[in-house]
Amino acid sequence: MGIFDNFWKDKKAKETPIEEKKVSQVGETGVKTIENQDVVADHNEVPQDVSRETSEKTQDVKPEAATSASSPSIPDEFVSTPIRSYEEKLPVTHAIGITKIISIINQKGGVGKSTTAINLSAALGEQGKQVLLIDLDPQGNTTSGLGVEKSQLNKCIYNVLLDDTELEEIIIPDVCKGLDLAPSTINLAGAEVELVAEMARELRLKDAVGKMRGKYDYIFVDCPPSLGLLTVNALVAADKLIIPIQTEFYALEGVTKLLESMKRVKSRLNPSLEIFGILLTMYDGRTTLSRQVAAEVRKYFGNQVFETIIPRTVKLSEAPSYGIPITQYDPLGKGAISYMNLAKEVIERG
Ligand SMILES: Nc1ncnc2c1ncn2[C@@H]1O[C@H](COP(=O)(O)OP(=O)(O)OP(=O)(O)O)[C@@H](O)[C@H]1O
Ligand SMILES: [Mg+2]
Repeated sequence: MGIFDNFWKDKKAKETPIEEKKVSQVGETGVKTIENQDVVADHNEVPQDVSRETSEKTQDVKPEAATSASSPSIPDEFVSTPIRSYEEKLPVTHAIGITKIISIINQKGGVGKSTTAINLSAALGEQGKQVLLIDLDPQGNTTSGLGVEKSQLNKCIYNVLLDDTELEEIIIPDVCKGLDLAPSTINLAGAEVELVAEMARELRLKDAVGKMRGKYDYIFVDCPPSLGLLTVNALVAADKLIIPIQTEFYALEGVTKLLESMKRVKSRLNPSLEIFGILLTMYDGRTTLSRQVAAEVRKYFGNQVFETIIPRTVKLSEAPSYGIPITQYDPLGKGAISYMNLAKEVIERG
């Protein structure tokens, strides 16, 4: 996680007195809705097109915000995603396909799991799919990277795993086109320890996510950088895995251990678990090292490796500071194009 990841939001929160915001309780969920009415249209009162227009407006101002990212001034246009309840979800306009549950996993830190979770999900949403993204990392990078203010959440995926809270209760609908989010907060850090004493501790996520089959085309789980109980839950809940591998010197370090964990879970708890794809990330074609590592990974994993390679680009690391995916932050840049291509490949792989 970049040290500036929450910087703009914190600054903005300090700048915006709480009185300016409308705070209300939504339904029976106990999830607070915080709407800055200056910048966010009331979801209940606007048809889909208008809300899209609103997000396009937001999108229009981002390049300016991007410019200011390199200077010490603070972007005024940062808009945090309003926290809504699942009941307010926009109607789905197409038949949902067979739900695929895919965990994005690698116990190695900083390889591009959260970046892929956010941007692949958003790209699939752009391509007309209905996607749920579950943040299973106590760092909550995916949650903040999609513009959700973690401090405003009463409940998160922790409550689903440990308090029998239904997944619908924590889902924030339509954080982007076609994309819903099940957020994480720092509370999840306790789950690794607390789960140990629970019955069926490895099955908690599977039980919760299984109930959502048929409601989405894709459900992605962004995993923490460890092989603890949270990751085991993600392995048990998933139909398939996407393993991002950073094209750097120690790229394959730890992958053997990950594959062993996968094998153990497959033989005991989830026999149909398969690798969906290996994703090369942060590729810099100018360096021999990147090219060599990419070739080595392809040699090892063959056609399990996605054709699409995610390039190293600063825009991908900037986008989370603005709480939006790359498809909105820099839609024509190479980062957005590569994640759109990856989304196409994911759809083609079935
Ligand atoms: N293709 C890319 N180009 C440039 N920077 C990137 C790219 N992908 C990810 N990053 C940056 O690298 C850092 C690590 O990425 P990310 O948070 O996605 O990895 P992660 O595997 O989720 O990390 P963790 O294991 O801590 O959860 C972040 O600062 C992110 O913005
Ligand atoms: Mg992460």
